[in-house]
Amino acid sequence: MIVLGIETSCDETSAGVVRGGCEVLSNVVASQANLHARYGGVVPEVASRKHLECMLPVVLEALDHAGVTWRELGGLAVTNRPGLLGALLVGVSAAKALAYALKIPIAPVHHLEGHLYSTFLAAPDLTDQFPLLALIVSGGHTQIIRMDRHCEYQLLGTTRDDAAGEAFDKGARLLNLPYPGGPEVAALASQGDPARVLMPRSYLGDTLDFSFSGVKTALRTFIARDNGKTNLADIAAGYQEAIVVMLTRTLQRAIHSTGIKTFCVCGGVAANRRLQESMKAMAQAEGCRLILPDTQLCTDNAAMIAAAGWYRLQHADSSPLSFDTLAVSPLALATISS
Ligand code: KG4
Ligand code: ZN
Repeated sequence: MIVLGIETSCDETSAGVVRGGCEVLSNVVASQANLHARYGGVVPEVASRKHLECMLPVVLEALDHAGVTWRELGGLAVTNRPGLLGALLVGVSAAKALAYALKIPIAPVHHLEGHLYSTFLAAPDLTDQFPLLALIVSGGHTQIIRMDRHCEYQLLGTTRDDAAGEAFDKGARLLNLPYPGGPEVAALASQGDPARVLMPRSYLGDTLDFSFSGVKTALRTFIARDNGKTNLADIAAGYQEAIVVMLTRTLQRAIHSTGIKTFCVCGGVAANRRLQESMKAMAQAEGCRLILPDTQLCTDNAAMIAAAGWYRLQHADSSPLSFDTLAVSPLALATISS
Protein backbone atom coordinates (compact mmCIF):
# COMPACT_ATOMS: atom_id res chain seq x y z
CA MET A 1 0.00 0.00 0.00
CA ILE A 2 1.18 3.54 -0.79
CA VAL A 3 0.60 6.10 1.97
CA LEU A 4 0.71 9.89 1.73
CA GLY A 5 1.94 11.46 5.00
CA ILE A 6 1.36 15.05 6.09
CA GLU A 7 3.26 16.83 8.87
CA THR A 8 2.57 20.38 10.14
CA SER A 9 3.10 20.15 13.90
CA CYS A 10 5.58 23.04 14.16
CA ASP A 11 7.33 25.11 11.49
CA GLU A 12 7.85 22.60 8.68
CA THR A 13 5.16 21.95 6.09
CA SER A 14 5.90 18.48 4.81
CA ALA A 15 4.33 15.81 2.62
CA GLY A 16 5.88 12.43 1.88
CA VAL A 17 4.96 9.28 0.02
CA VAL A 18 5.99 5.87 1.40
CA ARG A 19 5.38 2.41 -0.08
CA GLY A 20 5.17 -0.70 2.08
CA GLY A 21 6.04 1.15 5.30
CA CYS A 22 9.74 1.55 4.55
CA GLU A 23 10.35 2.68 0.96
CA VAL A 24 10.45 6.49 0.69
CA LEU A 25 9.17 7.60 -2.73
CA SER A 26 9.27 11.30 -1.86
CA ASN A 27 9.78 13.55 1.15
CA VAL A 28 9.16 17.27 0.53
CA VAL A 29 9.86 19.68 3.40
CA ALA A 30 9.14 23.43 3.23
CA SER A 31 10.92 24.93 6.24
CA GLN A 32 9.76 28.20 7.75
CA ALA A 33 12.96 28.63 9.80
CA ASN A 34 13.91 31.88 8.00
CA LEU A 35 10.47 33.33 8.65
CA HIS A 36 10.74 32.78 12.42
CA ALA A 37 14.46 33.61 12.78
CA ARG A 38 13.83 37.31 13.37
CA TYR A 39 11.63 36.47 16.40
CA GLY A 40 14.19 34.04 17.88
CA GLY A 41 11.66 31.18 17.89
CA VAL A 42 8.47 29.86 16.28
CA VAL A 43 5.49 32.27 16.31
CA PRO A 44 2.43 29.94 16.26
CA GLU A 45 0.07 32.21 14.29
CA VAL A 46 2.73 32.97 11.66
CA ALA A 47 3.40 29.22 11.37
CA SER A 48 -0.29 28.38 10.79
CA ARG A 49 -0.66 31.00 8.04
CA LYS A 50 2.47 29.77 6.27
CA HIS A 51 1.27 26.14 6.47
CA LEU A 52 -1.97 27.22 4.75
CA GLU A 53 0.02 28.79 1.90
CA CYS A 54 2.38 25.83 1.49
CA MET A 55 0.08 22.85 2.11
CA LEU A 56 -1.30 22.17 -1.36
CA PRO A 57 1.90 22.96 -3.34
CA VAL A 58 3.89 20.69 -0.99
CA VAL A 59 1.42 17.80 -1.37
CA LEU A 60 1.39 18.17 -5.17
CA GLU A 61 5.19 18.25 -5.25
CA ALA A 62 5.37 15.10 -3.09
CA LEU A 63 3.07 13.20 -5.45
CA ASP A 64 4.99 14.51 -8.45
CA HIS A 65 8.41 13.51 -7.01
CA ALA A 66 7.03 10.07 -6.16
CA GLY A 67 5.50 9.66 -9.63
CA VAL A 68 2.25 8.62 -7.96
CA THR A 69 -1.32 9.66 -8.84
CA TRP A 70 -4.14 10.34 -6.37
CA ARG A 71 -5.77 7.05 -7.39
CA GLU A 72 -2.68 5.04 -6.43
CA LEU A 73 -2.81 6.22 -2.81
CA GLY A 74 -4.07 3.49 -0.48
CA GLY A 75 -4.10 5.54 2.71
CA LEU A 76 -3.33 8.82 4.44
CA ALA A 77 -1.36 9.55 7.59
CA VAL A 78 -1.28 12.88 9.38
CA THR A 79 0.33 14.22 12.55
CA ASN A 80 -2.55 15.17 14.84
CA ARG A 81 -0.64 15.43 18.17
CA PRO A 82 1.31 16.87 19.98
CA GLY A 83 2.23 20.26 18.53
CA LEU A 84 1.02 23.80 17.88
CA LEU A 85 -2.76 23.49 17.61
CA GLY A 86 -3.22 26.01 14.78
CA ALA A 87 -0.39 24.41 12.82
CA LEU A 88 -1.70 20.85 13.36
CA LEU A 89 -5.18 21.90 12.25
CA VAL A 90 -3.95 22.89 8.79
CA GLY A 91 -2.40 19.48 8.08
CA VAL A 92 -5.26 17.55 9.68
CA SER A 93 -7.94 19.48 7.75
CA ALA A 94 -6.10 18.91 4.46
CA ALA A 95 -5.63 15.20 5.18
CA LYS A 96 -9.28 14.71 6.19
CA ALA A 97 -10.48 16.48 3.03
CA LEU A 98 -8.26 14.23 0.88
CA ALA A 99 -9.35 11.05 2.69
CA TYR A 100 -13.00 12.02 2.22
CA ALA A 101 -12.61 12.91 -1.46
CA LEU A 102 -10.48 9.87 -2.32
CA LYS A 103 -12.47 7.50 -0.07
CA ILE A 104 -9.31 6.04 1.48
CA PRO A 105 -8.51 5.25 5.15
CA ILE A 106 -6.70 7.79 7.32
CA ALA A 107 -4.45 7.24 10.36
CA PRO A 108 -3.83 10.01 12.91
CA VAL A 109 -0.17 9.74 13.97
CA HIS A 110 1.57 10.89 17.16
CA HIS A 111 4.53 13.10 16.16
CA LEU A 112 7.00 11.12 18.30
CA GLU A 113 5.71 7.87 16.82
CA GLY A 114 6.69 9.37 13.46
CA HIS A 115 10.22 10.07 14.75
CA LEU A 116 10.44 6.46 15.97
CA TYR A 117 9.40 5.12 12.59
CA SER A 118 12.20 7.03 10.84
CA THR A 119 14.27 4.15 12.28
CA PHE A 120 12.48 1.59 10.10
CA LEU A 121 13.00 3.82 7.06
CA ALA A 122 16.74 3.79 7.83
CA ALA A 123 16.86 0.05 8.63
CA PRO A 124 13.98 -1.83 6.93
CA ASP A 125 15.43 -5.17 8.10
CA LEU A 126 14.50 -4.19 11.67
CA THR A 127 10.78 -4.08 10.99
CA ASP A 128 10.14 -7.44 12.64
CA GLN A 129 12.96 -7.44 15.17
CA PHE A 130 12.03 -6.41 18.66
CA PRO A 131 12.64 -5.30 21.37
CA LEU A 132 14.01 -1.94 20.31
CA LEU A 133 15.26 0.84 22.56
CA ALA A 134 14.84 4.39 21.25
CA LEU A 135 16.16 7.76 22.32
CA ILE A 136 13.95 10.50 20.90
CA VAL A 137 15.68 13.88 21.05
CA SER A 138 13.77 16.77 19.53
CA GLY A 139 12.97 20.41 20.20
CA GLY A 140 10.06 19.56 22.49
CA HIS A 141 10.85 16.07 23.82
CA THR A 142 13.64 13.91 25.21
CA GLN A 143 12.47 10.38 25.94
CA ILE A 144 13.75 6.82 26.17
CA ILE A 145 11.15 4.43 24.76
CA ARG A 146 11.00 0.64 24.71
CA MET A 147 9.17 -1.00 21.80
CA ASP A 148 8.30 -4.71 22.01
CA ARG A 149 6.17 -4.66 18.86
CA HIS A 150 4.78 -2.21 16.33
CA CYS A 151 2.64 0.64 17.65
CA GLU A 152 3.42 -0.22 21.30
CA TYR A 153 5.40 2.28 23.36
CA GLN A 154 6.69 2.07 26.92
CA LEU A 155 8.18 5.21 28.42
CA LEU A 156 11.39 4.44 30.37
CA GLY A 157 12.71 7.96 30.87
CA THR A 158 11.90 11.55 30.02
CA THR A 159 13.16 15.05 30.70
CA ARG A 160 12.08 16.74 33.92
CA ASP A 161 12.52 20.21 32.39
CA ASP A 162 13.89 21.25 28.99
CA ALA A 163 14.18 18.95 25.99
CA ALA A 164 17.68 18.43 24.54
CA GLY A 165 16.79 20.48 21.42
CA GLU A 166 15.42 23.23 23.64
CA ALA A 167 18.72 23.22 25.58
CA PHE A 168 20.57 23.67 22.28
CA ASP A 169 18.18 26.44 21.14
CA LYS A 170 18.32 28.32 24.46
CA GLY A 171 22.10 27.86 24.64
CA ALA A 172 22.35 29.34 21.15
CA ARG A 173 20.46 32.41 22.28
CA LEU A 174 22.88 32.87 25.21
CA LEU A 175 25.75 32.57 22.73
CA ASN A 176 24.10 35.15 20.45
CA LEU A 177 23.53 32.64 17.69
CA PRO A 178 20.43 32.74 15.45
CA TYR A 179 17.37 30.42 15.52
CA PRO A 180 17.22 27.45 15.02
CA GLY A 181 20.06 27.13 17.45
CA GLY A 182 21.01 23.44 17.40
CA PRO A 183 22.86 23.41 14.07
CA GLU A 184 24.45 26.81 14.94
CA VAL A 185 25.83 25.58 18.29
CA ALA A 186 27.06 22.41 16.56
CA ALA A 187 28.86 24.40 13.82
CA LEU A 188 30.54 26.71 16.37
CA ALA A 189 31.40 23.81 18.67
CA SER A 190 33.13 21.97 15.83
CA GLN A 191 35.81 24.70 15.91
CA GLY A 192 36.29 24.53 19.68
CA ASP A 193 37.88 22.28 22.28
CA PRO A 194 35.27 20.50 24.45
CA ALA A 195 37.80 20.03 27.28
CA ARG A 196 38.46 23.75 27.87
CA VAL A 197 35.12 24.66 29.46
CA LEU A 198 33.67 21.93 31.66
CA MET A 199 29.91 22.19 32.13
CA PRO A 200 27.94 20.22 34.77
CA ARG A 201 26.15 16.95 33.94
CA SER A 202 22.95 15.97 35.77
CA TYR A 203 21.84 12.41 36.50
CA LEU A 204 18.64 11.79 38.40
CA GLY A 205 19.41 8.92 40.79
CA ASP A 206 18.35 5.49 39.53
CA THR A 207 15.90 6.87 37.02
CA LEU A 208 16.42 7.13 33.27
CA ASP A 209 15.18 10.73 33.34
CA PHE A 210 17.05 13.78 32.09
CA SER A 211 17.49 17.37 33.25
CA PHE A 212 19.07 20.10 31.16
CA SER A 213 18.17 23.20 33.17
CA GLY A 214 21.38 22.99 35.25
CA VAL A 215 23.73 23.05 32.27
CA LYS A 216 21.74 25.91 30.74
CA THR A 217 22.07 27.97 33.94
CA ALA A 218 25.77 27.07 34.10
CA LEU A 219 26.21 28.43 30.56
CA ARG A 220 24.42 31.67 31.43
CA THR A 221 26.53 32.11 34.60
CA PHE A 222 29.77 31.28 32.76
CA ILE A 223 29.11 33.82 30.00
CA ALA A 224 28.17 36.53 32.52
CA ARG A 225 31.33 35.97 34.61
CA ASP A 226 33.72 35.35 31.74
CA ASN A 227 33.46 38.85 30.26
CA GLY A 228 34.39 37.69 26.76
CA LYS A 229 37.77 36.19 27.83
CA THR A 230 37.07 32.63 26.59
CA ASN A 231 36.80 31.70 22.93
CA LEU A 232 33.08 31.26 22.10
CA ALA A 233 33.80 28.07 20.12
CA ASP A 234 35.31 26.47 23.26
CA ILE A 235 32.25 27.48 25.31
CA ALA A 236 29.90 26.03 22.65
CA ALA A 237 31.97 22.83 22.51
CA GLY A 238 31.90 22.45 26.31
CA TYR A 239 28.14 23.05 26.39
CA GLN A 240 27.43 20.60 23.56
CA GLU A 241 29.70 18.01 25.19
CA ALA A 242 27.74 18.13 28.46
CA ILE A 243 24.43 17.54 26.63
CA VAL A 244 25.93 14.75 24.52
CA VAL A 245 27.49 12.99 27.52
CA MET A 246 24.24 13.17 29.56
CA LEU A 247 22.29 11.66 26.66
CA THR A 248 24.87 8.94 26.00
CA ARG A 249 25.40 7.88 29.63
CA THR A 250 21.69 7.71 30.40
CA LEU A 251 20.96 5.67 27.29
CA GLN A 252 23.87 3.38 28.20
CA ARG A 253 22.23 2.80 31.60
CA ALA A 254 18.97 1.99 29.81
CA ILE A 255 20.84 -0.61 27.75
CA HIS A 256 22.31 -2.12 30.92
CA SER A 257 19.00 -2.20 32.77
CA THR A 258 16.93 -3.65 29.90
CA GLY A 259 19.59 -5.82 28.24
CA ILE A 260 18.29 -4.62 24.85
CA LYS A 261 21.08 -4.65 22.28
CA THR A 262 19.46 -2.73 19.42
CA PHE A 263 18.86 0.96 19.79
CA CYS A 264 18.13 4.03 17.70
CA VAL A 265 18.53 7.75 18.17
CA CYS A 266 15.95 9.87 16.36
CA GLY A 267 14.49 13.40 16.31
CA GLY A 268 16.13 16.67 15.26
CA VAL A 269 19.04 16.52 17.74
CA ALA A 270 20.02 13.09 16.32
CA ALA A 271 21.41 15.11 13.38
CA ASN A 272 24.16 16.35 15.73
CA ARG A 273 27.51 14.93 14.57
CA ARG A 274 29.11 14.89 18.03
CA LEU A 275 26.11 13.03 19.46
CA GLN A 276 26.32 10.53 16.60
CA GLU A 277 30.05 9.93 17.29
CA SER A 278 29.42 9.49 20.99
CA MET A 279 26.52 7.06 20.41
CA LYS A 280 28.55 5.06 17.87
CA ALA A 281 31.43 4.71 20.36
CA MET A 282 29.04 3.64 23.11
CA ALA A 283 27.28 1.13 20.80
CA GLN A 284 30.64 -0.39 19.91
CA ALA A 285 31.71 -0.63 23.56
CA GLU A 286 28.38 -2.30 24.48
CA GLY A 287 28.30 -4.61 21.44
CA CYS A 288 25.02 -3.04 20.32
CA ARG A 289 23.51 -2.27 16.93
CA LEU A 290 22.79 1.45 16.53
CA ILE A 291 20.45 2.95 13.93
CA LEU A 292 20.85 6.62 13.06
CA PRO A 293 18.42 7.92 10.44
CA ASP A 294 19.76 10.26 7.72
CA THR A 295 19.72 13.96 8.65
CA GLN A 296 16.63 14.73 6.54
CA LEU A 297 14.78 11.92 8.35
CA CYS A 298 15.94 13.12 11.81
CA THR A 299 14.40 16.59 11.59
CA ASP A 300 10.64 16.99 11.06
CA ASN A 301 9.42 15.37 7.85
CA ALA A 302 6.32 13.62 6.53
CA ALA A 303 7.95 10.41 5.25
CA MET A 304 8.31 9.28 8.89
CA ILE A 305 4.61 10.08 9.47
CA ALA A 306 3.63 8.08 6.38
CA ALA A 307 5.74 5.15 7.62
CA ALA A 308 4.10 5.18 11.07
CA GLY A 309 0.68 5.58 9.42
CA TRP A 310 1.34 2.58 7.18
CA TYR A 311 1.87 0.41 10.28
CA ARG A 312 -1.22 1.83 11.98
CA LEU A 313 -3.29 1.07 8.88
CA GLN A 314 -1.90 -2.50 8.84
CA HIS A 315 -3.33 -2.83 12.37
CA ALA A 316 -6.65 -1.65 10.91
CA ASP A 317 -6.31 1.56 12.86
CA SER A 318 -8.15 3.69 10.36
CA SER A 319 -9.99 6.46 12.19
CA PRO A 320 -13.31 8.11 11.42
CA LEU A 321 -12.87 11.69 10.24
CA SER A 322 -13.92 13.01 13.65
CA PHE A 323 -10.47 12.65 15.31
CA ASP A 324 -9.10 15.73 17.02
CA THR A 325 -5.83 17.65 17.26
CA LEU A 326 -4.05 17.80 20.65
CA ALA A 327 -1.34 20.18 21.85
CA VAL A 328 -0.12 17.70 24.48
CA SER A 329 -0.41 13.92 24.42
CA PRO A 330 1.81 11.17 25.92
CA LEU A 331 3.26 8.75 23.36
CA ALA A 332 2.31 5.73 25.51
CA LEU A 333 -1.37 6.52 24.83
CA ALA A 334 -0.71 5.95 21.10
CA THR A 335 -0.16 2.24 21.85
CA ILE A 336 -2.58 -0.03 19.97
CA SER A 337 -3.68 -2.69 22.47
CA SER A 338 -3.69 -6.23 21.11
O1 KG4 B 1 12.52 16.88 15.61
P1 KG4 B 1 12.68 18.31 15.28
O2 KG4 B 1 12.96 18.67 13.85
O3 KG4 B 1 11.41 19.13 15.71
C1 KG4 B 1 10.71 18.85 16.90
O4 KG4 B 1 9.95 17.85 16.91
O5 KG4 B 1 10.97 19.59 17.86
O6 KG4 B 1 13.83 18.86 16.22
C2 KG4 B 1 14.19 20.21 16.20
C3 KG4 B 1 15.27 20.42 17.23
C4 KG4 B 1 15.61 21.88 17.42
O7 KG4 B 1 15.69 22.13 18.81
C5 KG4 B 1 16.97 22.01 16.74
O8 KG4 B 1 17.76 23.04 17.30
C6 KG4 B 1 17.56 20.65 16.99
O9 KG4 B 1 16.47 19.76 16.80
N1 KG4 B 1 18.64 20.32 16.04
C7 KG4 B 1 19.91 20.12 16.42
C8 KG4 B 1 20.65 19.88 15.23
N2 KG4 B 1 19.78 19.92 14.18
C9 KG4 B 1 18.54 20.19 14.70
N3 KG4 B 1 20.50 20.14 17.63
C10 KG4 B 1 21.82 19.91 17.70
N4 KG4 B 1 22.59 19.69 16.60
C11 KG4 B 1 22.05 19.66 15.37
N5 KG4 B 1 22.84 19.43 14.31
ZN1 ZN C 1 9.91 16.52 15.59
